[in-house]
Amino acid sequence: PITPIVLSGGTGTRLWPVSRASHPKQFWALASNQTMIGETLQRATGEAFAPPIVVCNQAHRFLVAEQLRENGCENGRIILEPAVRNTAAAIAAAALVAAQDNPQTLLWIMAADAAFRYPERLPAVLEKAAKVAREGYIVTFGMKPDVPETGYGYIRTGAPLHPDRPDEGVYRVTRFIEKPDHLRATEMLREGGYLWNSGMFVAPASVMLAELARHEPDVLENVRTALERSQHDLTFRRLDAESFLRCPSVSIDYAVMERTDRALVIPADLGWSDVGNWNALWELGDKDAGGNVVVGDVVLEQSHNCYVRSEGMLTAVAGLTDIVLVVTTDAVLAIHRDYAQDVSALVAQLKKAS
Ligand code: GDD
Ligand code: MG
Repeated sequence: PITPIVLSGGTGTRLWPVSRASHPKQFWALASNQTMIGETLQRATGEAFAPPIVVCNQAHRFLVAEQLRENGCENGRIILEPAVRNTAAAIAAAALVAAQDNPQTLLWIMAADAAFRYPERLPAVLEKAAKVAREGYIVTFGMKPDVPETGYGYIRTGAPLHPDRPDEGVYRVTRFIEKPDHLRATEMLREGGYLWNSGMFVAPASVMLAELARHEPDVLENVRTALERSQHDLTFRRLDAESFLRCPSVSIDYAVMERTDRALVIPADLGWSDVGNWNALWELGDKDAGGNVVVGDVVLEQSHNCYVRSEGMLTAVAGLTDIVLVVTTDAVLAIHRDYAQDVSALVAQLKKAS
């Protein structure tokens, strides 16, 4: 079976004021009427899967435990990080734990907060990925890019993995470029042949560990020690703080994906979204005749292409176009949809002011 690894360490700053450090976006029902981590866990249950491993900050342990219970993953395990050390460390910890059961076990590493318009297409794509990953590869999933987004990884698709099976739809990765600048992203779009990295990876635990050992040994060794010195019961495994804090903070994309020669890509149209900001939720949402997405207790007149969400406060809107309005019981966000990325700058300013 495949071991699902759910990375749940992000804070989702750009979805303020709903997403907060104490209760980040993956624990809210934002893209549907289910929490994003709940949907993620449900996609990874069934005969094909072992119980999941969730890696999160210790502050969120009860939120995660509750989500495991509510989504039929009572046997899931939770690795607790004493500090934020990015995804290479989180993945190293999960891979080491999974490898204790069986080093050959396949990992399906994923974000806790992605949304798919066509989730029904995932099982077939995953099955294909599992098959080729067993040959000793790290499989990525390539999403078709349409704008020069600088927050994603770009994958240059190479030759088919099996030249005798060109229709298989599995390709070598000739280059992986994490978070290019705007100019480079624009060039890659123009040039063609690049796909966005979805942030999901399928690989045998042994391969992920070997690539970490080769390219980022500092992360692996410190996490190994943090795990050896960890305290644990059936559910929680609390990584030792002293050793974990010695880990360099680096994402798996820079640490391994840009450097490895073991990467493959499967192009897939899953209707994927990383739900990074309010505009992404507008894009994903069901729209009324005026193109508005409305959630909660909202009355709306003569408005177009707006995202209006209210958490418990009666909210009335008229004559707005392309506006995001998010109302919670203690904070309000009003911003043009084109500025949805800039919420993190607002939050930084708020932190300074408080
Ligand atoms: N446990 C844990 N600990 N999880 C973490 C940590 C951490 O320190 N840091 C991030 N995560 C989780 C986030 O919650 C998210 O689910 C996932 O790991 C990815 O982290 P992000 O910080 O959101 O990465 P990104 O969006 O900048 O880039 C990644 O995802 C893109 C697609 O959304 C990369 O893989 C890109 O290449 C990719 O295109
Ligand atoms: Mg992200």
